[in-house]
Amino acid sequence: MTAPDGIDLHWVRDARELRQAYELRFRVFCDEQGVPRDEEIDALDDVARHAVVVAPDGAVIGTMRLVSRASTVKVGRVAVDREWRGHGIASRLLARAYEYAQGVRAEELRLAAQTQAVGLYEKAGYRRVGEPFPEAGIEHVWMVREVLPPRRRSAGAVPAP
Ligand SMILES: CC(C)(COP(=O)(O)OP(=O)(O)OC[C@H]1O[C@@H](n2cnc3c(N)ncnc32)[C@H](O)[C@@H]1OP(=O)(O)O)[C@@H](O)C(=O)NCCC(=O)NCCS
Repeated sequence: MTAPDGIDLHWVRDARELRQAYELRFRVFCDEQGVPRDEEIDALDDVARHAVVVAPDGAVIGTMRLVSRASTVKVGRVAVDREWRGHGIASRLLARAYEYAQGVRAEELRLAAQTQAVGLYEKAGYRRVGEPFPEAGIEHVWMVREVLPPRRRSAGAVPAP
């Protein structure tokens, strides 16, 4: 199902939006999934690039963070408001992560997926690597997606009318 018109995906623009993203993460990971609140926000949040999906009424209904290290972009904290799931919002976030990784010329995207969410990431082109491991009391597995260079128009090509 596609998301209704009027929802917007962008990088966090101010402290208020970042706070809303954190509040969504607390609702999803701590209240729903039982992650301890003092483990949810960590030092990587200070250096991460945070994306938000904003509903027409201004509510933040989706978020993820990206952390670049060497030639890898690590995707984390992918969360969608319970009321908005099944509308392709996580897919849009992952597509933005891929575009970002292309833009910074990363070689791969990497994430620690909750094993219950592996299907989401497989549909987005990730593959499992290694064995499952526990983190914050939840089983995870590393997944990677190779990043291809952005397609370039061949020099001198005549644009289609
Ligand atoms: C997992 C989550 C982010 C998915 O968000 P969403 O916006 O509902 O996902 P989408 O609608 O973009 O789903 C895209 C595709 O992945 C599939 N998918 C979504 N969640 C899935 C899951 N948990 N397991 C398997 N497949 C899943 C969808 O069915 C859809 O498939 P389709 O294209 O064939 O219809 C959301 O359910 C959520 O926030 N869950 C709680 C937090 C969480 O588990 N985060 C992941 C941490 S690794």
